[in-house]
Amino acid sequence: MTTGRLFGLGVGPGDPDLITLKALKLLKAADVVAYPTGKADGGNARAAVAPHINGKQELLPLLYPTTAGPLADAPSYPQLMRDFYEATSQEIADRLEAGKDVALICLGDPFFYGSYMYWHARLAERFETVVVPGVSSVMAAPIAMDRPLCHRSDVVTVLPATLPEDELEARLSAADVAVIMKLGRTFPKVRRTLDRLGLLDRAVYVERASMDGERILPVRNVEPDETDYFSVIIIPCDAPG
Ligand SMILES: C[S@@+](CC[C@H](N)C(=O)[O-])C[C@H]1O[C@@H](n2cnc3c(N)ncnc32)[C@H](O)[C@@H]1O
Repeated sequence: MTTGRLFGLGVGPGDPDLITLKALKLLKAADVVAYPTGKADGGNARAAVAPHINGKQELLPLLYPTTAGPLADAPSYPQLMRDFYEATSQEIADRLEAGKDVALICLGDPFFYGSYMYWHARLAERFETVVVPGVSSVMAAPIAMDRPLCHRSDVVTVLPATLPEDELEARLSAADVAVIMKLGRTFPKVRRTLDRLGLLDRAVYVERASMDGERILPVRNVEPDETDYFSVIIIPCDAPG
C-alpha cells in the first residue's frame, strides 16, 4: 500500500483568514488533522483552523506535557519533550503507514521556532512531506499595532526571551529594531533589560495578535503577572516620514 503524505502547515498567527491558499487546500484534503496543544480544548492552533475542518476528518490532538512552571526548568524536561515527540511521531506514522494523509498544523510559520520541525526531523526521511510557510507572529504583530516594523537600512533583531539577561541586553543594545518572542514568565527579565537600556518608551507589548483577546499596550503599562505566552514585544522603527 502507498503510504500517506505528511503536510506541515503553517496556519498563520491565529485569525483563520490568515492561512495561505496552499495550506487551506492541503488541510481540507487531509484524512487526519493533527494539532499540538497544551489544553484539552484544543488550544490556539486548532482554533485557527476550526472553520476549515470538515466533520469527516480524524482530529489527532498532540497533547504537550506541561510546558510552563517549574517542570520546564527541570533537568528532565528536554528528555520529557524528546519522549513526547517520539511517542506522537509514532501516532502520526501509524496513520501514514495506513495510507492516510496527515496535516500537522503549526501556528505562524512551521520552520520559524515552530514545533512542527521536531516531528519533521523524525518523519521526513520515511515519508513524503509537503511543508507550507505561514504568516509568522513577527509579521502579524506590527500589523496589529498599525505601525511599520522596519524601513530603509534597519536591521531587525529577533530574540527569544529565554536568552540569559546579559545576552538579551547585549543584543538589544546593538539592535535598530527588535522583536522579542517567548514571553510569559520571562516578561520581568525583559522589562528590566529594556528599562536599563532606556527602551521602555519605544517598546510595545502585543498579545494574541489576530486572535480572540488581542491586546496591545506600552510595555510600561503591562502587569507582569497578566502576560501570556502568545505575545511579543516590538521595538519598531521611527514613524516613516
Ligand atoms: C514556539 S514560538 C512559535 C512561533 C511561530 N512559529 C511563528 O511563526 O510566529 C511561540 C512564540 O511565538 C509568538 N507568537 C505566536 N503566535 C502569536 C500571536 N498570535 N501573537 C503574539 N505572539 C505570538 C510568541 O512570542 C510565542 O511565545
